Amino acid sequence: MHVATRIDEVRNEITARAQGAPTAKDLMQSVCDLLHERMLKYNWVGFYMLEPGAQPPMLALGAFVGAMTPHTRIPLNQGICGAAASSGKTIVVDDVSKDIRYLACSLETKSEIVVPVFVAGEVAGELDIDSHFSAAFGAEDQALVQYCAQVVGKKLEKSQ
Ligand code: SME
Repeated sequence: MHVATRIDEVRNEITARAQGAPTAKDLMQSVCDLLHERMLKYNWVGFYMLEPGAQPPMLALGAFVGAMTPHTRIPLNQGICGAAASSGKTIVVDDVSKDIRYLACSLETKSEIVVPVFVAGEVAGELDIDSHFSAAFGAEDQALVQYCAQVVGKKLEKSQ
């Protein structure tokens, strides 16, 4: 199947799941399951969410699919995850071995994307995806992952 067709299908399925999920927590697990199952180069998919009231601010591992990671809590000044949450910007790393910020989860990981999740205009967490393939996240992947982060942000907003 052409990658653009697959991405369109997955995007439509995300829209359906966003409407059907009873809670934001259910939706986050469902997004992880779907992306991991359907996007063949997405080998670890998970959410990190800002811990309410933590000082210094801290990201905590939430829903995920893939091998357990040693990084269950990440301060905002560490890792690609910390950089994405503190800047509020999507970060794509084509070769993690060349990025000094990278915190290793698995020796197999070659590339990574981290997309912030916004709730009422503020960063509330992020969607993090690792791939065993170099440069796995092109422009279409970036748009898909940003869409997933956006629907989760909207669901979180509604549950506030
Ligand atoms: N690689 C991330 C850490 C999280 S694991 O990928 C699951 C980072 O550099 O922040």
